Amino acid sequence: MRWIAALLVLLAAGETTLGDDAQAAKDATIVETLLRLKTVDVNSNPKLKDAVLRHLELHQGTPKYVDLVEALNVLGVEEELLQLALADPASTAGVHAGTLLLQRDQAELIAGKINGDDEEIAIKAAGLLGYVGSQEAMEILKPLVLENQRTRPTRAAAATALGHSRLGEKYLLRVVEEGKLPADLNFTVANVLYASTDATIRAEVAKHLTLPATAGSKPLPPVAELAKRSGDPTRGQELFKTTATCIKCHKVRGEGKEVGPDLSEIGSKLPKEAMFISILDPSAGISHNYETYSAILDSGNIVTGLKVNETDDSVTIRSAESIDKVIAKTEIEEIVKSSVSLMPAELQKTMSEQDLVDVVEYISTLKK
Ligand code: HEC
Repeated sequence: MRWIAALLVLLAAGETTLGDDAQAAKDATIVETLLRLKTVDVNSNPKLKDAVLRHLELHQGTPKYVDLVEALNVLGVEEELLQLALADPASTAGVHAGTLLLQRDQAELIAGKINGDDEEIAIKAAGLLGYVGSQEAMEILKPLVLENQRTRPTRAAAATALGHSRLGEKYLLRVVEEGKLPADLNFTVANVLYASTDATIRAEVAKHLTLPATAGSKPLPPVAELAKRSGDPTRGQELFKTTATCIKCHKVRGEGKEVGPDLSEIGSKLPKEAMFISILDPSAGISHNYETYSAILDSGNIVTGLKVNETDDSVTIRSAESIDKVIAKTEIEEIVKSSVSLMPAELQKTMSEQDLVDVVEYISTLKK
């Protein structure tokens, strides 16, 4: 065996003026041999490592990349593993990369993303830990739920992530029982715990939290369950334009008002589960560019809505009724961004469970 290792090192150190194809073929041979040998430490020989890294580059972002990094114990590629994991935290490769990072004591790297300025990445990083699901991952997630200085979507992502494991569920239940859960996470956590496969947890949470109720005060099932139902899209379309009032704020193929995002292609953007959350808990994740602003005027009046335009002298605020008001900056004492969506939180109260399912069925047919 030892002579094979010696030979490999020689091979790796050999000619450097090879064409790309020849080089790639040689690198592949080296990697194949290393995988069989298992006794050679790639990290201790720079030439061998270069060959492995070149080979890895060909597999960047793929499950094979993670497999090779683990099998050959390639060190120093943690940043690449993290990128791969965050690109798709809910995939086998993503979870494998995340698991490897924690095994390599790189929890800080993932925590850094949760603490960073980019909310979308923070949400993905929290989700990643949930899918990894190890004890260590849970310990990182637990305090996040309670940390008020974090944005609500990040805290909600941490709570949802905890819900992927029984230990996490038990922790959330305890937080609820002790009355420590921030109220803006009630919906998120109720959804997680009502969907638990553990009947005791479901019974316990029912003593403290309720799921949103539809017309007739009938509580809805958890979102995960709603998402499995199928509805009548034609009926849903009718409701969208009438009782459910969606058309007052959303455009679909040219019809409707423009307070919220155009939903003409929403079926290609959001899975059903996310649609239910958008309707039942609009403030859980406010779409970019649709944040609510409140302009506090010198007169004491407050104008709330979307900021649709801003010049040197004025700000235009669009209300929930789709009325645009141009306000002179000289009249404004302060303008603050709110964490509450302009989309009303209790729309489901005007609908039955079937109505809601039908509306979601309808919007999920709206594809590119
Ligand atoms: C008073 C206005 C208003 C009404 C009524 C309303 N929405 Fe919204 N909706 C908004 C606003 C504003 C946003 C963007 C902010 C946010 O994400 O919460 C939004 C966001 C959404 C999103 C997420 C869009 C995205 O691109 O991520 C969906 C889905 C949605 N609404 C569906 C509906 C449905 C279905 C109804 C009817 C049951 C409805 N909305 C009623 C204002 C409204």
